[in-house]
Amino acid sequence: MSYIIAANWKMHKTAAETAAFCKAIMQEEQLFGDFEIIICPPYTALSTASAALKGSRIKLGAQNLHWEPKGAFTGEISAFMLGEMNVSHVIIGHSERRHLMGESDDQVHLKVQTALNNGLIPILCVGETGQERDNGMTEMVIERQLNSVLEGLSDDVASKMVIAYEPVWAIGTGRAASEQDAEDAARLIVQIIDHRLGRAAAETIRIQYGGSVTADNIGLYVTSTSLQGFLVGGASLETDLFSSLIQAAREAVKG
Ligand code: PGA
Repeated sequence: MSYIIAANWKMHKTAAETAAFCKAIMQEEQLFGDFEIIICPPYTALSTASAALKGSRIKLGAQNLHWEPKGAFTGEISAFMLGEMNVSHVIIGHSERRHLMGESDDQVHLKVQTALNNGLIPILCVGETGQERDNGMTEMVIERQLNSVLEGLSDDVASKMVIAYEPVWAIGTGRAASEQDAEDAARLIVQIIDHRLGRAAAETIRIQYGGSVTADNIGLYVTSTSLQGFLVGGASLETDLFSSLIQAAREAVKG
């Protein structure tokens, strides 16, 4: 199964900066082998990125969507609008949305269903806060977040999903999870999928780790048998950093 590395730019980069990044990263593309690379700029740069990435294997992702097709939802964007921009992936339930914007498990569930129903691949983020970890609630939180999304999804539809384990305490802190912590969480996710959707789905759904991933530490996670990719924030913002991170992962995979 090929690795999937997604760049989550959050609220960074203008359209002009996005165009410059895309042009530069496309020059490096032959170094990425069969890795699937996805860039998720802010909404305002999607159109620019879509045009800039034409002819490239690098895919385009969004950072959120609304579950309604249209209507009076000021500030929201629909799946159809994203499709029009050639977006193939969409990050859903990122901890910054759950914790800073108050996004609930129910809303995350609706968003994942909407993405899948509209041919978009959700990158579903799950993960515990530092306090939840300290209180021994890591497994419980992952189970709750994942089970609420899997509710009502058939195995063939859900199999298209990507799931990112992103412990909140590791995001943007420089304190990445240990390879054992990431592996334990990824294994738990595989178990839950296996239990709810069956073996085939558990073997198909790819699991990413996210949280302070850099070119220096990415090789550690590649030994994990349950992880097949990464969701990268800070280290995806500069072309050379992002390119060397992907290459470091490739080197580690090759052993
Ligand atoms: P980080 O962010 O790599 O800057 O920790 C990861 C994320 O939020 O997806």
